[in-house]
Amino acid sequence: MRLYIAAVLLWAVIASEGKAVPSLPHFGSSYHVKGVISLPYAEIKEPFQAWFDLAAKSSRIDYYHGQVSTYQLGAEPQWGVAYKISPETTETEQNVMKCFQTNGTADEAVTTQASLPDVQGFQFLRMEYFGGSLCEVWQNVTTVGHKKNTYTLWVTHSERGANSKGDPATPLHYEMMGYNTLLGSHYDKYLVDYKEFSPHVDPKAFSLPEGMSCGGFPGPGVEHHMLANPMKDLIHTSASGQSEHMFNHFKDKFQRQYSDEREHEKRQHAFIHNLRYVHSTNRAGLPFSLALNSLSDRTMSELATMRGRKRGKTPNRGLPFPSKLYQGVNLPESLDWRLYGAVTPVKDQAICGSCWSFATTGTVEGALFLKQRSARTD
Ligand SMILES: *[C@@H]1O[C@H](CO)[C@@H](O)[C@H](O)[C@H]1NC(C)=O
Ligand SMILES: *[C@@H]1O[C@H](CO)[C@@H](O)[C@H](O)[C@H]1NC(C)=O
Repeated sequence: MRLYIAAVLLWAVIASEGKAVPSLPHFGSSYHVKGVISLPYAEIKEPFQAWFDLAAKSSRIDYYHGQVSTYQLGAEPQWGVAYKISPETTETEQNVMKCFQTNGTADEAVTTQASLPDVQGFQFLRMEYFGGSLCEVWQNVTTVGHKKNTYTLWVTHSERGANSKGDPATPLHYEMMGYNTLLGSHYDKYLVDYKEFSPHVDPKAFSLPEGMSCGGFPGPGVEHHMLANPMKDLIHTSASGQSEHMFNHFKDKFQRQYSDEREHEKRQHAFIHNLRYVHSTNRAGLPFSLALNSLSDRTMSELATMRGRKRGKTPNRGLPFPSKLYQGVNLPESLDWRLYGAVTPVKDQAICGSCWSFATTGTVEGALFLKQRSARTD
């Protein structure tokens, strides 16, 4: 009898150990997932929705609830084709859906873009509750040069498949923490919260909207790959990423020479966070767009210093705007003055702290233009 109990206990120990080290999770070869990427250092919270089908060599990722759709169609001849569809506003048109195409090349073929991490090399850490679900926690730590990156993933399994090897896992949360041992500080961090996950993909998700004709990207080529497939650089940070290419291009263009490796690393980090901020803001479909400029390698606190203003001690005798006078006026929600040709290009006020005079000349120029034009057409 005692022997029998011991045998049962031994079996129980083996069974619980078998359960304590689950097999490496996988997400299947096709899935549809929704989530939010947060990049706290760039002040970004970007919702996305993704479709992935390995057999069809196709993926699609939409950002900001479909403001921007990107397609990676690896089966299209000859080396795959990437598309980006988004509304564009220019000097001549407002919110017109545009499709931009990037053809893969022998060197850089267009392939499917996963929106879930590749878990090869991850180690099982522990079981813990996350967002009310009991999760497996998996982790991988990599060291490349001065960069130590810790990737942590929280997954669950459906009730039915709790212990069976073959069933795809459901991703819940993913965190990347990048620590720079040279600078002694965290240089990067991103979090992804997955909201919906399903192994079913509607093949129609990979068809471009009907009647869409696609042209190449305007402007110089360095940025195109990032615009066509933002996810690639957003959460798959590798030493040879597109953002590194962009930084090299920036250094050439603005003739940057940094004093040492430390400053170089610092500038590169500032640049990449600014780059992500610019691209993410542009994907959100706001009434304005951002671009990189000579200040893109500065940190937020350096930029704040440049905007510094000395307050005068005496009152400036400015009067409040007489809004009462205009109470009955019927105003449109918004007005894009560029469409009226009344806006001159953005000026660079450099170190001149005269925002008030730049604002004034801008307004006077626009008003004068409209006045002259109506005088001509009357
Ligand atoms: C992390 O993953 C890579 C491969 O993806 C592997 O070479 C490495 O050993 C892993 N690191 C740890 C600490 O397990
Ligand atoms: C891509 O390839 C197609 C077919 O070969 C061609 O018609 C199109 O002009 C190319 N587009 C770009 C942007 O290179």
